[in-house]
Amino acid sequence: DHPYKVTVIGSGNWGTTIAKVVAENTAQNPTLFAPEVNMWVFEEKIEGKNLTEIINTKHQNVKYLPGITLPDNLIANPDLLSACEGADILVFNIPHQFLRRIVSTLKGHVDKKVRAISCLKGFEVDANGVQLLSSYITDELNIACGALSGANLAPEVAKENWSETTVAYHIPEDYRGDGKDVDHRVLKALFHRPYFHVSVIEDVAGISIAGALKNVVALGCGFVEGLGWGNNASAAIQRVGLGEIIKFGQMFFPESRVETYYQESAGVADLITTCSGGRNVKVGKHMAKTGKDAFEAEAELLNGQSAQGIITCKEVHEWLESCDLVSEFPLFDAVYQIVYNNVPMENIPDMIDDLDAFG
Ligand code: NAD
Ligand code: 13P
Repeated sequence: DHPYKVTVIGSGNWGTTIAKVVAENTAQNPTLFAPEVNMWVFEEKIEGKNLTEIINTKHQNVKYLPGITLPDNLIANPDLLSACEGADILVFNIPHQFLRRIVSTLKGHVDKKVRAISCLKGFEVDANGVQLLSSYITDELNIACGALSGANLAPEVAKENWSETTVAYHIPEDYRGDGKDVDHRVLKALFHRPYFHVSVIEDVAGISIAGALKNVVALGCGFVEGLGWGNNASAAIQRVGLGEIIKFGQMFFPESRVETYYQESAGVADLITTCSGGRNVKVGKHMAKTGKDAFEAEAELLNGQSAQGIITCKEVHEWLESCDLVSEFPLFDAVYQIVYNNVPMENIPDMIDDLDAFG
């Protein structure tokens, strides 16, 4: 029996932050974990130098997490397969539009005993339906996969300001309790920090749905904020959004628990923090103020980072349209119509008003 070796796949704003959290814990717990943590980096040049080289010498991700010192035992690696070689636990943390490519590169190279946690927020949508990203990873790589999601704006966690998060993992049926699988105790030891409080539960679907869909709601909050309508309007969008998130979960993932949306950090707390200070709300606001489209706003504001709600609202719309249920989710539809069909944002109140409620 050897200590668990951990690799983080991804090195954006959240990827680097979680890699820092994980590397701090592995260094402090060498009987449970191999201290050295690999972080796969999508290589790019910064002023003529490789980002991986900068991370490994300066111990800072100057592009995606500037100003934060990373632990020495966190090693940046631009080669995905060598970064993942020998890993027992893979922590996926990339913008979800890149997951397919990453997973297809890994396919055939990952032992079925490896365990994964997805920190991504989004869905995988194709002709077969809407799928959780953790299930997609499980199906493609034949490994058990859980999720981590919570009210966690990366810059605050990176600065070690206190927050909470939710990790969800369902121990596979064939686990015999002989200490070889990853269990809830191992996951808590891997992610919990004095400034990052972890609750470990079983409801992978609930935390993943909440995490993906709150990004769509946050765009809506950005629109009304950017229009100058204030806090009441933003609260109204969040109220309707929470209802649609729960309805989506109950309709398509009946295994998700309604309690998760209310009680866990990954539920309503993440909705609130994202709608207050996340990148999606900033993009929505910028669109409202400047008249720019979502992709221009994202490029102008985020320096290569991603506002996942832009793609998620499209994927969700495609799925709802394919099952003829768009009208059941008027806020998700409104956000999609504003982002992709130039519908004026001022129409939001009418679009989400339940006009049929009185007959
Ligand atoms: P990010 O938005 O900072 O995106 C930048 C990352 O994407 C960089 O590492 C960049 O190298 C990479 N990238 C660019 N092009 C690529 C390509 N072609 N292939 C692979 N990678 C490429 O990323 P993030 O903030 O780390 O977000 C990762 C996931 O975590 C997202 O699903 C996000 O919603 C979620 N999340 C983010 C936060 C946050 O506050 N940033 C918090 C919680 C969850
Ligand atoms: P943004 O991507 O909108 O910044 O949200 C981050 C997040 O997921 C907070 O938990």
